[in-house]
Amino acid sequence: FLASRLLTHVGKLPPKVQQLGYINRGLKVAVVGSVGGIGQPLSLLLKQNPLISTLSLYDIKNTTGVGVDLSHINTRASVCPFEGKNGLKKAMDKADIVVIPAGLPRKPGMKREDLVDVNASVACEVAFAASEVCPGAMLAFITNPINVIVPIVATILKAKGTYDPNRLFGVTTLDVVRAQTFVADILNVDPQKVNIPVIGGHTGRTILPILSQCDPPYKGTEKERDALIQRIQNAGTEVVNAKDGLGSATLSMAYAAAQFVSSLIKGIKGSKDECIVECAYVESDVTEAEFFATPLILGPQGVKENTGLPDLDDDERQALDCMLPILKESIAKGIKLGEGMM
Ligand code: NAD
Ligand code: LMR
Repeated sequence: FLASRLLTHVGKLPPKVQQLGYINRGLKVAVVGSVGGIGQPLSLLLKQNPLISTLSLYDIKNTTGVGVDLSHINTRASVCPFEGKNGLKKAMDKADIVVIPAGLPRKPGMKREDLVDVNASVACEVAFAASEVCPGAMLAFITNPINVIVPIVATILKAKGTYDPNRLFGVTTLDVVRAQTFVADILNVDPQKVNIPVIGGHTGRTILPILSQCDPPYKGTEKERDALIQRIQNAGTEVVNAKDGLGSATLSMAYAAAQFVSSLIKGIKGSKDECIVECAYVESDVTEAEFFATPLILGPQGVKENTGLPDLDDDERQALDCMLPILKESIAKGIKLGEGMM
C-alpha cells in the first residue's frame, strides 16, 4: 500500500521500491451506468478494493454527485466521474476493466428478452468506445439480456478488429451466488463454503445449476431437487415481483459483480498461490452454442482456461439439450443485431 501511495513520486525512489511500486500498480476500473440501482452499490464496493487505483464512473446523468460522495471515502482509489458528451470515452480511456450495469431493468410481467431493443444500443455504444479507447480491457457486461448482449458486443468488436474472446464476459455470477445461498439454506451450512457450477446462459431454463457436482453434496428427492433448480432459475423474477415495479436485483447483483471484478483483478495480478475460478458467459466451443457459461480459470489475459462442462447426470444432460436451442436462437439474434449496428 505504502509503495503504491508513493507511485506518483516514483522518480525519487530507490530502484527496489520502484520495482515494488510497479508490481503493485493499481488498476483502472470503469463503471458504465454508475448512478443506477446496481451502479451505485457496485461503485461503493469497488471503492473498497485496495487493488484499484482509479475508479472511473460514467452515466448519462448525475455522475458527479455520486462521484463526489464516493471520493470522500478513505480508500486508495481515486474517483473520476464523467457524464455528457465524450464522457463515456473519457471514463473508459485506458481502463484495465470496464464493468457495465447500464440499461433498463425488467418490470413484473416482462421477460429479460423484452429489454433487448433498448439495451442493445447501450451495449453498442460501449463496444464502439472500447474499440477506440481501451481495446485491451476486460469487458464485463451485466446489462440484460446477457444471452443476446454478449454476442452483439462480440460482433461489433470483431468488425472493429479489437475482439479478444478471452476478455469479453457476460456476468452470471449472481446465479452462482444464489445457488450457493439456496443450497446452503437447505444443507444448513455456510454459503461461502458451497461450491456449485452454474452453466449455460442467464434466462430461465438456460440457467443450469449442476447440483450433481455440488460440494458439499446435495441429496434431495427428485421433487425437492426440481424445486431447488426452479428457484435458482426464477430467482431474478422472484426479486422483480417482490420489488413490484421498482426494478430488479440491484444489491445482490452489485455484490456478485464486485466479486467477479475482484476475481478479474486477481487474475490480472497473476496470483501464484490461488487458482481463480468464476463461471461467466463467454465465447465457447464446449457445446454447440457459440457463447456459453462454464467455470473459467482467470489469468493475466482474462480467460486462461475454460474448464469445460462439469460431469453431468442424466437429468442435467437432458436439461442441457433442452436449453441449447434457446441459447442458439438468442446468440443468432445477437449476431444479427450486432451486424446491423455496423
Ligand atoms: P437502473 O435503471 O437502476 O440503472 C441503470 C443505469 O444505466 C441508470 O443510471 C441509467 O442512467 C444508466 N444508463 C442508461 N443508458 C445508459 C447509457 N447509454 N450509458 C450509460 N449509462 C446508461 O437499472 P439496474 O437495476 O441498475 O439494472 C441495470 C441492468 O442490469 C438492467 O439491464 C438489468 O436487467 C441488468 N441486470 C443484470 C443482472 C445479471 O445477473 N446479469 C442482474 C441484475 C440486473
Ligand atoms: C436477475 O437475475 O436478477 C437479473 O437478470 C435481473 C432480472 O431481470 O431478473
